[in-house]
Amino acid sequence: MSVRTRYTAAAACAVAMTIAGLGTGFAEEKVKIGFSQGTMESSWRVNMVEGNKKYAEANLPDVDLIVTNGENQASKQVSDVESLISQGVKTLIISPVTADALTPVVKQAMDAGIPVVTLDRKVNTDVTLHIGADNVLIGKTAGEFVCQTLGGKGNVIEIQGTAGASATVDRHDAFHKVLAEKCPDVKVVADQVANYVREPAIKFMEDMLQRFKPGEIQLVYAHNDDMALGAVTALEAANRLSEVKVVGIDGENAAYDAIKAGKMVATFTYHFVAPEGVQYGYKVAKGEKLDKEIVLPTHQVDATNVDDWIGKGF
Ligand code: AHR
Repeated sequence: MSVRTRYTAAAACAVAMTIAGLGTGFAEEKVKIGFSQGTMESSWRVNMVEGNKKYAEANLPDVDLIVTNGENQASKQVSDVESLISQGVKTLIISPVTADALTPVVKQAMDAGIPVVTLDRKVNTDVTLHIGADNVLIGKTAGEFVCQTLGGKGNVIEIQGTAGASATVDRHDAFHKVLAEKCPDVKVVADQVANYVREPAIKFMEDMLQRFKPGEIQLVYAHNDDMALGAVTALEAANRLSEVKVVGIDGENAAYDAIKAGKMVATFTYHFVAPEGVQYGYKVAKGEKLDKEIVLPTHQVDATNVDDWIGKGF
């Protein structure tokens, strides 16, 4: 066999082994993308993870998407990110539990040359790209809706999301700003953090129904639908739902059904950033130059338009 024939045979063999996935050293490496999810406690977050995973599986065969779950603890999420960095991810996608606690590790990734894409919630340092709906706009629009719905006067209970999460801060601050400016006689008479989870919201609402007598609360503003639906559960159990209006955020199908049934008065759609998270994470990993922020749309859904939304949520 001549040298040329031997070389050609070896090359053909390498190609065949690569195609068969036997590993020749020539096989193309997968693009490792880390996705640090803050918590999986709500169906909204499960949808975020599943939607991005499904998209990657179906459309990005060269991507190895590594997903971690911070279990709603900033310290756990920090170590998740440290582990993703040490695994050599090409891009870090993160939906941070809270802003302050996750800022140093995100900065560490950026400083190490790993591009970072934040989804839904922000951190307090520069990142490559942020994708999410506008929580200031949602808080502001919810405030305007509440001023109007209560005719400029009434008592509100606010059920907040996770303390220190940028979504919580924006939904709270923008709502209060509008109340102060447009309807100062609408007062938030009690509020509590319930971590965007239904059970603590039910418990808090049960306590509030002991504290405030019939006629003393006109509306509940919850930072997501899970907690709003929790408030509905407590109000129904106490037979007081007819006296209290309930507002949520996210756009769950159960919330649309509740609006249709007159159990809630409004919700605001909040995109769970799938498949955009991995779509853009991939572009970033490939070195594509993009704008620093992608703002996803939000819509007010109430009795006037709920029929257009039934079954179109999650
Ligand atoms: O950060 C925003 C919130 O987080 C979503 O509205 C909520 O449902 C989720 O857990």
